[in-house]
Amino acid sequence: MEASAPEDETEILHVFDFPQIYTKPSAQALLNTLTLLTSAPPSWECSDSEQRLEKPAGRSKRRSRKVTKTAAVRVNPEGLARYLTQLIGCDFRWIDNDAVKEEIWEQASLRLSERSGRSAMPAISRSFGIPTPSALFDIVIHEPALTADNLGLKTWAASYLLAKRLHTLHLPQLGSATLDILELGAGTGLVGIAAAAVFGASVLLTDLPEIAPNLSRNVETNREAIESHNGSARTAVLDWSNPHVCQFYPDVEQGEVKSFSTKQAKQPDPFPVILAADSLYSPEHPRLLVQTIDCWLSLESNARVMVEFPLREAYTPELNNFRQCMAGIGLHMTEEGEEFGYDDWGWDGGEPTRGRGEVKCWWSVWRRKT
Ligand SMILES: C[S@@+](CC[C@H](N)C(=O)[O-])C[C@H]1O[C@@H](n2cnc3c(N)ncnc32)[C@H](O)[C@@H]1O
Repeated sequence: MEASAPEDETEILHVFDFPQIYTKPSAQALLNTLTLLTSAPPSWECSDSEQRLEKPAGRSKRRSRKVTKTAAVRVNPEGLARYLTQLIGCDFRWIDNDAVKEEIWEQASLRLSERSGRSAMPAISRSFGIPTPSALFDIVIHEPALTADNLGLKTWAASYLLAKRLHTLHLPQLGSATLDILELGAGTGLVGIAAAAVFGASVLLTDLPEIAPNLSRNVETNREAIESHNGSARTAVLDWSNPHVCQFYPDVEQGEVKSFSTKQAKQPDPFPVILAADSLYSPEHPRLLVQTIDCWLSLESNARVMVEFPLREAYTPELNNFRQCMAGIGLHMTEEGEEFGYDDWGWDGGEPTRGRGEVKCWWSVWRRKT
């Protein structure tokens, strides 16, 4: 396939322009096609056939790969998912190099996840129905167009599952006092907003500085609905690598900077409940997340941590490490389970189907050893 175009023009390719499996195309032709299908960030808009080391898009950023940049092309999406799926399912008997076959399968999988996932979509708002003890509570979540590594701008399967599971959680009995809940790595805020409504709780939703503006926006959008369930919610920046410091976002209120620290004398009471979803995707995350839990979890024996993480084979060491770290700070698991969710709802605009974008997740509840 020849996919060049004049510099000021963008050629539109159709699936039938690509090497078809029944023609037993060469590995090179397939790899060239898969390179062309890359959802290229602007930095890739460079001269023809420049080669450089780039990291794969999405969450599989562990290996660098060589990317050959060719002229800008646009691809008609019709039939593209089917084409990529065929490549993933093909045994390529006519190609005798196993490493090259692996590369084709990997590239096809990456292209599929880039294009079928949120990364290819513009900003959207969508609503999620979350069960509360009385009825379904509708939460409206805004997700900006994804940029770079900002995974927190998208709502992940584990958070929807955890939000729906909250009403089953047996909470610490606090008498008439309002329950304070901390969410770590809140992303778009689905879990924290749900918790505020489900429990009529006061929830602090936290994440990194670049995630806080959209998080805060979602809290504002849902404020009235939260308050109608006797809950309240605030946003703050809390970086697990500097776990003692937490700063409200927006940080200026009535002329005063609102920040607090577990080390300050006037620290807020620690939180009897901490929530986190899909927060383990690098080797240092278990230690960082757990040290943050250690900083902010109440010392009361009835304090609880509830987490939900996707079960992805590549992240098994992170999950095991998380369990060890939690035990290391004196927490033990009281309940756990597995369930299925979808990392992308509305696949191709329709209802998600089992097997498409499906993610198995693990949830667990932790408390202090007595
Ligand atoms: C995969 S996203 C999950 C977001 C949300 N919980 C969900 O499930 O939809 C992981 C979140 O953890 C946050 N995160 C990663 N490293 C962090 C750190 N060092 N401190 C605070 N948050 C962090 C990211 O910004 C992101 O929002």
